[in-house]
Amino acid sequence: MSILVTGGAGFIGSHTCVEMLEAGYDVVVVDNLYNSCAEALHRVEKITGKSVKFYEGDVCDRALLRTIFSENEIEAVIHFAGYKAVGESVKKPMMYYENNLISTIALINVMEEYGVRKLVFSSSATVYAGDNTVPLTEDMKLGAINPYGKTKLFIEEILRDLCASNSDWCVALLRYFNPIGAHKSGLIGESPKGIPNNLMPYISQVAVGKLEKLNVFGNDYETRDGTGSRDYIHVVDLAKGHVKAIEWTLGNTGCDAFNLGTGKGTTVLELRNAFVDVTGIDVPYVIAPRRAGDLDEVYALPDKAKRVLNWQAELTIQDMCEDTWRWQSNNPSGYDE
Ligand code: WQD
Repeated sequence: MSILVTGGAGFIGSHTCVEMLEAGYDVVVVDNLYNSCAEALHRVEKITGKSVKFYEGDVCDRALLRTIFSENEIEAVIHFAGYKAVGESVKKPMMYYENNLISTIALINVMEEYGVRKLVFSSSATVYAGDNTVPLTEDMKLGAINPYGKTKLFIEEILRDLCASNSDWCVALLRYFNPIGAHKSGLIGESPKGIPNNLMPYISQVAVGKLEKLNVFGNDYETRDGTGSRDYIHVVDLAKGHVKAIEWTLGNTGCDAFNLGTGKGTTVLELRNAFVDVTGIDVPYVIAPRRAGDLDEVYALPDKAKRVLNWQAELTIQDMCEDTWRWQSNNPSGYDE
């Protein structure tokens, strides 16, 4: 029996493939390589010594999905595939709604055709409304403020309605906080196309000399040092959370949401300083204006995932910095070498 991983060549997807393979599952990946590289899957095979069956193509393509389900005994699905850039989603909302929603609906329908009703969905802390207090708990108010986050919210609602209509389904909605870091081998990691939107890949590209300096988006937030605070979680901890979530779906029914975070906030300058301390490499920065839509503080209460999934994050900010640097210094241009 195999696990289908959509978007499995991506940053979180490739790390999850490693952990699924090492947990003894067979893995099948479908990915259109829009925001990823097939090289990542070769590296997954190198790390694990196991093979990944890879189908290049789009999750919107039902004929392709039917081929995958007819050629493989799929037991459950982890659904990562989707566009994920907040800023791009504001400029191109219809591209995000069409791709992220249509691909998910196509996937659900073909899963139903083949009687596969176990799904782990890659959701996001972005689904929480901006006026919640921290730490965020799964029962708090939802309300995304950008099209990317709205696609995650709409898909959560679609999956809740699906499970309410058919008790054979089991869906885990995993709300990621801020995934950073890389596998300890230095062979896989975050490889954003173009200028990184997110903090850690930007820091590491300054450190490796691809970018001049870090722009710190505001230092007048209500935090320890005035810079934005987020719940950074090591991507390997996050990947292990997916293994636990698959196990939960295989033994349960219904739909439930889980925060995958550490429960701790780290500011922009604290993360930058930790990176400098761990690597010994300076990361010049300037204070720049706030970025629209950013919140002061976002961090999780991760107790439910511990209680229900028997999962908790274990790696530290220092691990995240050290592992990021090993990946970035070994692969200055990511997979584009
Ligand atoms: C973190 C902090 C910035 C870049 C986003 C998505 C979210 C999720 C994770 C998908 C903030 C500051 C950043 C920079 C900076 N992705 N910053 N200079 O915005 O918390 O979350 O990624 O699910 O959906 O919204 O992450 O890394 O962009 O920002 O000062 O060059 O770093 O202001 O305080 P964010 P981020």
